[in-house]
Amino acid sequence: MKSYMKFIKTVLILSSFLFIFNSCLKDDNTIVKHYWSPEDYSILTKYLNLPSEPQNYEFTFPEHYNGTTRVFHRGRATLGRVLFYDKHLSQDNSISCASCHDQKIAFSDDVAFSEGVQQRRTARNSLALGSVFSFNEYYGSQSFGQIPFFWDNRAESVQEQAEMTLGNENEMDMDMHQVLDRVQDLEYYAPLFRTAFGNDDINETKILDAIAVFINSIGSFDSKYDRALDDYIKTNGRTNNFQNKFLPMLSESENRGKDLYLNECSSCHGTTISIPGKVSANNGLDLVYTDKGENESSKFKVPTLRNITLTGPYMHDGRFATLDDVLDHYSSGIKDNDALDDELRENFGEPKKYNFTDQEREDLLAFMATFKDDSLINDERFSDPFK
Ligand code: HEC
Ligand code: HEC
Repeated sequence: MKSYMKFIKTVLILSSFLFIFNSCLKDDNTIVKHYWSPEDYSILTKYLNLPSEPQNYEFTFPEHYNGTTRVFHRGRATLGRVLFYDKHLSQDNSISCASCHDQKIAFSDDVAFSEGVQQRRTARNSLALGSVFSFNEYYGSQSFGQIPFFWDNRAESVQEQAEMTLGNENEMDMDMHQVLDRVQDLEYYAPLFRTAFGNDDINETKILDAIAVFINSIGSFDSKYDRALDDYIKTNGRTNNFQNKFLPMLSESENRGKDLYLNECSSCHGTTISIPGKVSANNGLDLVYTDKGENESSKFKVPTLRNITLTGPYMHDGRFATLDDVLDHYSSGIKDNDALDDELRENFGEPKKYNFTDQEREDLLAFMATFKDDSLINDERFSDPFK
């Protein structure tokens, strides 16, 4: 009996060691506690629906990308999640980041111009957030360079983007001192900062860093197209131009749509909808642009088409309500202007007219519908934590 007890004790001690190891050193080698004390947790649960331990924030890229797993600091991601949903971060306490980035529609908004504080309106259409990331920082793809943020690519990092959004008078209308004051006054932030940074010294940089960790953790890679590509690679190996092959997991129509997409759209929007072929371009929306976009060049971000069936209205000014309208544009509506991309011209001349047949239109729409990622829009880790 005695030795049995001793054995149990040893097992308990060993496993608690393992537990501490696991929870302390996992993310980025800094020793940060991943769990709240009972006192801290009872403060948190007054305001928030959070499990008793910060959740695991990691995602695995599909095989067709590189199959690697990226782990995010769970305490910081959790803090970022709370900040993202907190209306106290806006001047009149009416708007949070999530007001214009709704998880159910892939973190976009369903109106052309979103409502900010005092019922003011944004100047551009809200951008969807699944898989918004900085390749430079997270994938080390120096050769491709960093993908910046906003329709005119004016922010180099999520931190910079978030500070601009918080400060924008049509959006949240707060300077960082005000944000800091609000966060310091709210009781639930001290415990969240302790698990995020190891102490409750709250400052502006940490606020922005936590938001960035959360935003970057929102990976969207579980679409039907991703699974179909991975299925092909699993069976056939990673052949050259695997995306050009017939993918058994897609229907005939979706496969035809894919071929059309690869020929006509992927040079800008990316063959596997992961990395865009171009960071910015002009796609001929107008003869003369009033909003001149990136460096007054009339070029705009080439947006990701992930979850595209959920994220209408479309384009930087939300001018098209449906994907049918978008296809009308590419079919016969491309306008000539000096900035129009050569890929959208016939032999460098007149604007292209794709003149899609009914069948082609149906196929393209069917294919674009395979970009939807239901895991993303239902993932509880990205949902509103407030009670
Ligand atoms: C009032 C609506 C509104 C609020 C609030 C808002 N956003 Fe946005 N967000 C937008 C709009 C509109 C754009 C595109 C603006 C532009 O390009 O000029 C955007 C763009 C972005 C982008 C760039 C995405 C990309 O692919 O380039 C990120 C990231 C982002 N928002 C995150 C946030 C975060 C984090 C917050 C909270 C701190 C926030 N947003 C609050 C409306 C909003
Ligand atoms: C020369 C590059 C280029 C090509 C080729 C191209 N696009 Fe685009 N696409 C863009 C740019 C740039 C935008 C954003 C333009 C803006 O808002 O000012 C865009 C926007 C879109 C949008 C709206 C996205 C959103 O979130 O609002 C859809 C959908 C789209 N393109 C589909 C297609 C399809 C389908 C094809 C092929 C038939 C195609 N594109 C070909 C550059 C291109």
